[in-house]
This record gives sequence, C-alpha cells and structure tokens, in this order.
Amino acid sequence: MTSQVMNGNGKAFHDSDVGKPPEPNFAMTTLQTVLDFILFISVSIGYILQDLYYMALGYPEKDLKNDIALVTGGGSGIGRLLATRLSKMGTKVVIWDINQQGINETVDIVQSTGGYCKGYVVDISKKEDVYKAADQVRRDVGDVTLLINNAGVVSGRLLLDTPDHLIERSFNVNVMAHFWTTKAFLPQMIENDCGHIVTIASLAGHVGISKLVDYCASKFAAVGFDEALRLELDVLGHQGVQTTCICPYFIGATGMFDDVNARWVPILKAEDVADRIIKAIKTNEKVAVIPGYIKILLSLKWVFPWGCNSQFLRRLVPDAAPHQVAPVKCAPTPTNDSTNYKINPNTDISNGIGKSAAMLVKRTPSVGERVL
Ligand SMILES: NC(=O)c1ccc[n+]([C@@H]2O[C@H](COP(=O)([O-])OP(=O)(O)OC[C@H]3O[C@@H](n4cnc5c(N)ncnc54)[C@H](O)[C@@H]3O)[C@@H](O)[C@H]2O)c1
Ligand SMILES: *[C@@H]1O[C@H](CO)[C@@H](O)[C@H](O)[C@H]1NC(C)=O
Ligand SMILES: *[C@@H]1O[C@H](CO)[C@@H](O)[C@H](O)[C@H]1NC(C)=O
Repeated sequence: MTSQVMNGNGKAFHDSDVGKPPEPNFAMTTLQTVLDFILFISVSIGYILQDLYYMALGYPEKDLKNDIALVTGGGSGIGRLLATRLSKMGTKVVIWDINQQGINETVDIVQSTGGYCKGYVVDISKKEDVYKAADQVRRDVGDVTLLINNAGVVSGRLLLDTPDHLIERSFNVNVMAHFWTTKAFLPQMIENDCGHIVTIASLAGHVGISKLVDYCASKFAAVGFDEALRLELDVLGHQGVQTTCICPYFIGATGMFDDVNARWVPILKAEDVADRIIKAIKTNEKVAVIPGYIKILLSLKWVFPWGCNSQFLRRLVPDAAPHQVAPVKCAPTPTNDSTNYKINPNTDISNGIGKSAAMLVKRTPSVGERVL
C-alpha cells in the first residue's frame, strides 16, 4: 500500500520509500570513507600549519573603516566602549538600547571625537521592534556588516528567589534577541558575501555559577548559537560571513557585576576587554576567552570529577551577587496585586546597591506568573 505523507518540510513522500535505502557497493563506500578520512586529515594539517604560521607572525587584521556596525546595548558598559573604538577606526556605528539617556551619552561621546554614531531606542527582547528598527537602520544608514550582540542582563538571585519574568528576560535579552537581530541582518550579509556576527557571551556560557542559573543557561545558549551558526555558514559555503564568540570573565565598573565576590582571577578592566574584542573582530577569531589562560582550566573541566569542579568554582566565585541584584530605582510599588513580585526581604533596597533602572525592561506581568 502506498500513501502520500507530508514530512516536516511539507514535501510529500511515499511511505513505500521508507526503509529501503539504496543498496551501496561495499567496496566503493569503504574506499569513499578512507578517501574522506585522508582528506580530513590533510585539510586539518593545513589548518594547523596555517595557525602556527599566524601565531608566529601575527594574524592578519581586517580593516573596519568601511563597515556599518550595530552594537546592541551600546548605551553603557562594553557596548559604549566598543562604539567609541569602532568609530575611531572610521566605522559607522549604530547603537540600540532601551536607555535613551545612555544612548544620548554614547552618541555625544562618539560625535565629540568626530565619529559617526546614530542611536535608536529598541527593546531587543521584542522581535517585532527588532525587525522594525532593522528596516529603519537599513533606510537611514545602510546594510549592517558588523552585528555585535552585546546587550545582556543578569538577575543575580538564587533560582527559587528569581521571579519568572526575570528568568524570561534573561533569555529574551541574552539569547532570543540574537536570533531576531541575526535574522534581520544576515540575509544582506550573505547576499553581499560580507559580514560579521559577534556574540558577547561570557565564561558563564561555559561553566555554571550559583545565583546565575538563568544567566548561565542563557549564555550557554548564546555560545551554542554562535557555534552552530558558524558551522551552518561553513556548510552553506558563505565564506564572507564570519562569527565570533566573546567569553569574558567578570568585568569591573560596567554596572553588571560590580559587587561580585570573586578571587584568584582578577576582575577585568572594561577598556582591556573592549580592546580585546576589537582585536578578535579584526582577526576573525572564532572564540575569544578572556583572559586566554582560562581556556586551559575550561578544558580540565572535562577531565576532572565533578567534585573537583564544584570545589574550584565555589572558591573562585564565593558569591556572584552578594547584595543581590535588586530592581532599586523602578521597583514596582508593592500592592496587593497577586501578579506583582515580592522583593526579597533580605535585600536592602534602600541602600542603593543594585542595578540601575537601565537594566530593567518595563513589562506587564503575565497572568498566572509564578511569584517567588
Ligand atoms: N560585566 C561583566 O562582568 C560581564 C562579564 C561577562 C560578559 N558580560 C556580557 O557583556 C555584555 C555587556 O555587558 P556590560 O557589562 O557592558 O553591561 P551593561 O549593563 O553595562 O550594558 C548592557 C546594556 O544593555 C542594555 N539593555 C538591557 N536590556 C536591553 C533590551 N531589552 N534592549 C536593548 N538594550 C538592552 C542596557 O540598557 C545596557 O545599556 C553583556 O552581554 C554581558 O552579559 C559582562
Ligand atoms: C536625547 O537626545 C534627544 C535628541 O538630541 C533629545 O530630544 C532627548 O530629550 C534626549 N533624551 C535624554 C533622556 O537625554
Ligand atoms: C494589603 O493587604 C493587607 C492584608 O491583606 C492589608 O492590611 C493592606 O491594607 C493591603 N494594602 C493595600 C495597599 O491595599
């Protein structure tokens, strides 16, 4: 009996085709496999030699002066530092942020040094807003050739103290937004065979840390997004489109992890991280772990028993958010509304420690949200 069935792509196939793979010629397939393996080994040796050559003589650096860069979260921290560095090299910079004041400051800083910078208020956690703003940027400035997915948020609470909407926000900003911005700008990059997509992830995208469960999960996702996208572009043969994943340790004075209690590895300076990111972009680096020696520790993660990893991580980061990350400035007025979340009573919200209003996305609580 033969009937037509639709597969996942909507293409019709006959179920009589199922279970009848073409009969291969054994000798031919074996030969094919051996040849394929030899090809793989020789190509790999080629790549290793190329890398050794570059390590000795320095990696070639590309020029970014004809690029149009889009930096999400350009209204503060790393995003702002990237915008100033890029504009100094002649790159046209577009920044997106939810914080109008931060945007104005960045635009002023860049323009005062003679650079080009245009800012837009965009909440990247809303995909319709992202698509609309992307069209606007195309009309106002042109095709984005360097997309830097930098905006990020952190909840900084124990999982069971984290209200649902903050967990959703972590994912919407730290990873989902990468899908929307990439879908908005990748088609032109592919068409022009020229583009670069940069994911600002984190070391928290490679190891788990207490009080950062939602943050780590979203950053692991961002790391996976970058790697799978890179491979997909390779498979499709789009050699002009590069991807880079940036994985820094804690950075001081950006507002995100200012009060983190960490040791052994010194907190990074934001300026150094920005310089390192620019370097990674110019050399088409695939994954930049900052500081670089942490790569060795990361590889050991797969060698040692979990107990060793746990003991190490607990000592490295005794407390990722000692004062918790409390929405100080725009915390909703406590009401008896069941959808409002409680501020943890252990958090002293009057002492000014906590995230700036910029980090909080205005929201309407959804019905049925779990409040903890
Ligand atoms: N600070 C650190 O220690 C550290 C360490 C590793 C990785 N990172 C990552 O580096 C990136 C930059 O961090 P930073 O330290 O500069 O943080 P930051 O808080 O200074 O900057 C983040 C920016 O993103 C903006 N933003 C937040 N939500 C947004 C939204 N929905 N739409 C548009 N913009 C939004 C904020 O307004 C802010 O300007 C983040 O992805 C962060 O996760 C930071
Ligand atoms: C930002 O700049 C624009 C235009 O220059 C101005 O209209 C707006 O009031 C400024 N906003 C803030 C919050 O500074
Ligand atoms: C909230 O509820 C408590 C008891 O249920 C009541 O005493 C209090 O007045 C209410 N507050 C407001 C702002 O309605």
